[in-house]
This record gives sequence, structure tokens and C-alpha cells, in this order.
Amino acid sequence: MGRLDDKVAVIVGGGRNIGRASAKLFASEGAKIAIFDMDEERAAGVTEEVAEQGGECVYALGEVQNVDDIKAMIATVVDRYGRIDVLLNCAAISDRSPMLELDDDEYRKIIDVTMNGTYFTCKYVAEQMVKQGTGGSIVNFSSGSAYQGNTRRVAYDMAKGAIVTLTMDMAAQLAQYGIRTNAIAPGITGSQVGGMIAFEDRQTNNLVGGRAGYPEEQASVALFLASDDARHLYGQTLRNDGGGSVV
Ligand SMILES: NC(=O)c1ccc[n+]([C@@H]2O[C@H](COP(=O)([O-])OP(=O)(O)OC[C@H]3O[C@@H](n4cnc5c(N)ncnc54)[C@H](O)[C@@H]3O)[C@@H](O)[C@H]2O)c1
Repeated sequence: MGRLDDKVAVIVGGGRNIGRASAKLFASEGAKIAIFDMDEERAAGVTEEVAEQGGECVYALGEVQNVDDIKAMIATVVDRYGRIDVLLNCAAISDRSPMLELDDDEYRKIIDVTMNGTYFTCKYVAEQMVKQGTGGSIVNFSSGSAYQGNTRRVAYDMAKGAIVTLTMDMAAQLAQYGIRTNAIAPGITGSQVGGMIAFEDRQTNNLVGGRAGYPEEQASVALFLASDDARHLYGQTLRNDGGGSVV
């Protein structure tokens, strides 16, 4: 028996890295998967990988900050599977310069994708879950960046801080419908957000665990939060960071 048997899981930003690993793990635990991503090659690739391991997967293309794209994705998933039980929000983009050098339009774009995109997918998928009347589980991705100042980043860090707060608000507001909301704040994992530079070779002496994380190590915590194993957990953001936050 799988921990997500008969569940339908939407994985936003499921085309790469943590989202991809989560799609494969959730499918192996019995979930039917829907990938929502802006990149067709990535989304189609993961859909094929899930099918190759014997799972069921569809994808919908769109941008998380566009409410029309989110609504179309929900309609596609409900049309195909009849429902949504789990939402995992992985899509994000990051800045790489200090505030004084950050272009205002880039700032707005990062907030729009990383913060508003998470808000709107949460809002409209939660609306669908409430309509179904059988609860659900929502898992957001924050970041260790939410908790520390950084010399070369600001918009992403702000958005990730907002996701910690959003997760608590949603937990408080949606529990009455049987919907649990939690989040994960990873440390460096797999490849950098929005890029393919691998972290494996990075100097990681500052991590208790001694190394950067693998995407599968975020996926396993996402599975825990998504499943009934975490049925008493509401509004928490778990620091899944190889101990980076404790030293
Ligand atoms: N990788 C890390 O080291 C790390 C560290 C801390 C937090 N996180 C968080 O974990 C989550 C997953 O990170 P990742 O490294 O797997 O990211 P990634 O950049 O590897 O993958 C993100 C996916 O989202 C998609 N995407 C980007 N913008 C989109 C948009 N506007 N609309 C729809 N899809 C879009 C991309 O096509 C891609 O498939 C993110 O929320 C990230 O902030 C990652």
C-alpha cells in the first residue's frame, strides 16, 4: 500500500529538481500526478519518467502568476482525474544582485512568480478542495533564505518569508475544511533555483550534515507533509537543510 493511494497530486513547477523528484516519489506511493509548469520539455519529460515507472501523470502548461492559467490547469486536472487532494508548490525564480542594483521590473517579476504565484495556486486549488468537501493537503516551498540576510539577494528572500506567513494563515483558515497546509524551507539542494549549477561540489563545511541536499531528500519530507503521517501538523515550515540553520 502506498501512502498516497487514490490521491491526486498537483505538482507546481514539477518539471525539474525538487518538483521532479517529488512527482516520481508521490507516484511511487500511489498518487496520480499532474505537473503544472511553464516549460513543456521539462513537464513532458517528467510525465514520461513517471509513466516509465508505472505511474499515471498528465501535465498542464502555464505560468503560476497568471490566474487564468491556474484555473485552466485545475479544469484540466479535474476533467482528467475528477479531483485534487494534494498541492505541492515548487515554482520560483530568484534574483542574484543586491537591492541597490536590482532592476525594479525584475523585482516585481520575482515577487509575482515566487510570492503571488504560490498565493494564487493555493487560493484556487483550495477553492477546488473545499468544493470537493473531503479535505486535502497543501505543501509550499519556502527557503532558508527567508530567515537570513543575504548580500546579493532580496526579492526572492522576501517572497520566501511571505510564504512562511501565508502557510500559517492558510492553516488557520482552511483547517475547518479538513485542509492542512505546511511548508518546507530547504537549504541548498540539487541545483540552484532557476539554474542547472549543481551544489554537490560546493563548500558545505557550514552544514551539520556536511553536504548539500539531494532533491529526493526534499521530496521525502514533502511526502510526509502531504500524507496522513502528518495529520496533526498545521502551518509549520520545516527547516530541511542538513542542519545549516542550527549552527
Ligand atoms: N534548489 C535549492 O537549493 C533550493 C533551496 C531553497 C529553496 N528552494 C525552493 O524549492 C522549490 C523548488 O526549487 P528547485 O531548485 O527545484 O527549482 P528549479 O528552478 O530547479 O525548478 C523550478 C520549476 O518551476 C518552473 N517555473 C519557474 N517559473 C515558473 C512560472 N512562472 N510558472 C510555472 N512554472 C515555473 C520551472 O520551469 C522549473 O521546472 C522552490 O520554491 C525553491 O525556492 C530550493
